Amino acid sequence: MNLLELHRTVVWIYLGLAALVFVVLLRLPAGYGRHGSRKWGPALPPRPAWVLMESPAIVATILFFLAGRPFQNVTAWVFLGLWLLHYGYRTLVYPFLIRSGHSVPIVVVAMGFLFNIGNAFLNAGGLFLVAPPRPDTWLGDPRFLLGLVLFLGGLATHVHSDYLLRTLRAPGETGYRIPRGGLFQWVTSPNYLGEWVQWTGWAILTWSIGGLVFSIWTAANLFPRAVAHHAWYRERFPDYPPERRAILPFLW
Ligand SMILES: NC(=O)c1ccc[n+]([C@@H]2O[C@H](COP(=O)([O-])OP(=O)(O)OC[C@H]3O[C@@H](n4cnc5c(N)ncnc54)[C@H](OP(=O)(O)O)[C@@H]3O)[C@@H](O)[C@H]2O)c1
Repeated sequence: MNLLELHRTVVWIYLGLAALVFVVLLRLPAGYGRHGSRKWGPALPPRPAWVLMESPAIVATILFFLAGRPFQNVTAWVFLGLWLLHYGYRTLVYPFLIRSGHSVPIVVVAMGFLFNIGNAFLNAGGLFLVAPPRPDTWLGDPRFLLGLVLFLGGLATHVHSDYLLRTLRAPGETGYRIPRGGLFQWVTSPNYLGEWVQWTGWAILTWSIGGLVFSIWTAANLFPRAVAHHAWYRERFPDYPPERRAILPFLW
């Protein structure tokens, strides 16, 4: 099997996984954070768990970039820079800011770790190893520019929402409060919405099948979790804002 065939196979596997994960998570929320329990087995403290889980997205991506050697290609550097902007935040900054009251089950960390290796191949492997280098004129293409606006808007949204969630707790606190401000006015999980918009922007700005699959995966993984969070708040907080939706303003 050559690299192109391997990439196509991984695309189909990830699309199948996304469909499966969507159906399963609508019935059984992923067992970390407020939905975690001892049933999920031994767990790691949140900081090392997040670093470990997300680190392949940095390491494997850089390895694929080095293997593809697109060193003369400005567009490839821009793709790499945007990817690392997100994963630098998620892997090296976010874990040290969170005020989580929950450990993360090792099985969840392992699944995240493996997912990130395959996802790096889907995206960085697809862009730097499988597809021919994109000309530098791509950076003026309307698809790149539209995707970039969505990518940066989505990134700003989930970073800001992460901040609003974090500051609901004083250091050492573990309880939950109703989040307010920013896009929480409209939805329960603007952090997930921002993440999905960001990866949809990535799909458009790279105009790649790997990006499209990642956007679909993110929706399949995070929309059911947002629905579970929404139901959880409504059960526990009688004054939860009734007009607020789970993930898509006015819709869902
Ligand atoms: N692309 C993907 O497939 C993917 C997958 C997973 C996560 N992510 C991203 O990773 C980030 C974290 O995800 P997550 O599932 O952990 O998000 P989350 O369930 O919303 O929790 C985020 C953090 O805020 C705390 N928190 C949440 N609601 C709170 C409240 N009402 N009061 C006080 N503290 C609260 C949580 O503490 P506890 O841990 O104690 O609940 C946790 O530390 C998000 O930005 C998400 O978009 C992306």
